[in-house]
Amino acid sequence: MSVRRLAAVQPEDFEFTQDNLQWAERQIAKYPEGRQASAVIPLLWKAQEQHHGWLPEPAIRRVAEMLGMPVIRVMEVATFYTMFNLEPVGEHFVQLCGTTPCMLRGANALKDVCRKVIGEQRHVTGDGKLSWLEVECLGACANAPMVQINYDYYEDLDPENFETLLEDLRAGRAVRTGSQTGRSCSAPLGGDTTLTDETLYDGSRVGKWRKRFDETSAPGDATEPTSEGRPAELSRPEAKTSKGKQDAEALPDAGGAKPSEAKAPRRSAKKTDGEG
Ligand code: FES
Repeated sequence: MSVRRLAAVQPEDFEFTQDNLQWAERQIAKYPEGRQASAVIPLLWKAQEQHHGWLPEPAIRRVAEMLGMPVIRVMEVATFYTMFNLEPVGEHFVQLCGTTPCMLRGANALKDVCRKVIGEQRHVTGDGKLSWLEVECLGACANAPMVQINYDYYEDLDPENFETLLEDLRAGRAVRTGSQTGRSCSAPLGGDTTLTDETLYDGSRVGKWRKRFDETSAPGDATEPTSEGRPAELSRPEAKTSKGKQDAEALPDAGGAKPSEAKAPRRSAKKTDGEG
């Protein structure tokens, strides 16, 4: 586990910009009176974003003041969550996943690239463009090995495409986020292995089913498809018959019970309930 300390060199003070201050006040207003401390993480995050990707000690104090919290409580949050950088980072901050799936897929070779192009962990290149840090699983194991650079993921890396990526970022050239080998999301390497039958997607499978059904149905048969394409036998004719029978019984001239007679048991049941 990495040691997380405040940077040795700190700015004199910290103030939110007017826009960020208004944003922060809106976040605080989301919480009921007495619960303003709940806004601590969004405010620290905004402070870090404003301060070039890292969180200086005066910003921690400022957030504590805004939320009416003891400074140590905000310090605890800032030092606990690795999403907060406590020391300067490069303009392109590389978080390299070194957890088991990425390690098995070549993360160590990517670390060598970082050392070659950037230097040791936490070192910011002289031009201020790059720095890197090894982190734990970033949740994109299916596309290992991978890194997060600022807000984007870069996956399916190897030493060659990773070095090219870093140089492109440093030079300000456009880069592609996500998989660097071109696969779609986390689709299997080498192509799909399941659900590959085209008829699943072009509608012809349903057509085959219909054709087979037509071939086995005799004209006038009870299983003849309805106009909606649904077999008559699957339309629960017995249910229709049952309902029709109930309707017929409700008609006086159909030989069934009269409506008044049909209601009698319900009145009786109601009376019994009431008496009970
Ligand atoms: S192990 Fe690297 S993203 Fe999960």
